[in-house]
Amino acid sequence: MTIIENKPRLLTGDTPTGRLHLGHWVGSLENRVAMQDEYECYFIIANMHAFTTRMERPAEIHESVMDITMDYLAAGIDPKKSQIFVQSEIPAISEMTFFFSMLIPYPRLMRNPTIKDEIRDKGLGDNYAFGFLLYPVGQVADILVFRPEVVPVGEDQIPHLEMTREVARRFNQLYCHVDPQTEDDDYIKQGGLFPVIKPKLGRTKRLVGTNGPGPDGNLLKMSKSLNNAIFLSDDADTIKKKVMGMYTDPKRLKATDKGSIENNPLWIFHDTFNSDKAWVEEAKARYQAGGIGDVECKRRLIDVLVELIEPMRLRRLQYEKDLHYVQSVLKEGTANANEVANKTLLLAKEAMRQRFF
Ligand code: TRP
Repeated sequence: MTIIENKPRLLTGDTPTGRLHLGHWVGSLENRVAMQDEYECYFIIANMHAFTTRMERPAEIHESVMDITMDYLAAGIDPKKSQIFVQSEIPAISEMTFFFSMLIPYPRLMRNPTIKDEIRDKGLGDNYAFGFLLYPVGQVADILVFRPEVVPVGEDQIPHLEMTREVARRFNQLYCHVDPQTEDDDYIKQGGLFPVIKPKLGRTKRLVGTNGPGPDGNLLKMSKSLNNAIFLSDDADTIKKKVMGMYTDPKRLKATDKGSIENNPLWIFHDTFNSDKAWVEEAKARYQAGGIGDVECKRRLIDVLVELIEPMRLRRLQYEKDLHYVQSVLKEGTANANEVANKTLLLAKEAMRQRFF
């Protein structure tokens, strides 16, 4: 195996439900690219999780696994440094999900705010699959079989990471006889198998979409299913159209009207992506005073976004022409991930006194 063992480990990933967009970039992907040298990185493409709500569309899930792999490579994840792998090809994850599910009380799972939000936002009613409730437990296993130190995620994943921390403590106490009074950072030192992991949030916890507020008046988060996303694979024309049609201050009808920069995606995007802070501050002041048009500000934003996205899009085009290579990246990443995961599985079974042969 090519992995250098002395760096701390990092694990994170995505559910393959479409291509990656700017929300993924500022929420976590940008962090991952930057942390590749310091950490031994594992990036999981959680295809089993995609089945929780899309079980009738397996071909779409397959395609999305390939799309996300290409987005990762295009964004700068380097397969020589980092492992990109497919969740369903790591049997140790499914095995540990079963054991971990015993360590999470059912009512605790039902209090998980991300689960509650998803049931509401996806309109699942009370008709969701049993496996939908199982997925956060699966995510605990995704993480813990790699025994990572850090897990970079978006804000919506924090409840799952809190559950991961609880399961790690509980497992270590029950099966490795670690004292429950132990500090989170000391579990491994005290003989525990699983680290009590730390989440790492991106610089923007929740990027808004391009289309303005939802029924409750709050700006909606960027999401493929809400049709308000700018993708890392969008070409310059598409970006231009999306930005020109972007929701801004609805009360401002002409450039000489005073505009509000609060809850205004145009300015949220400039703040997030434009490195020319002096221009942004000056333009914001003029906008609020009615001294600059939407179009000029949008043109600037288009330039900034095209400069960020276009190199990724061009790299991606190369990968699209060489799916064989993309496949080989996944295959090798999965083999390396299995090596680590199987090692943990054995240690976990030993700790649980269930190693028979
Ligand atoms: N649930 C995460 C999401 O939808 C994806 C995911 C699956 C993940 N397993 C993970 C993220 C493990 C971090 C760690 O974004």
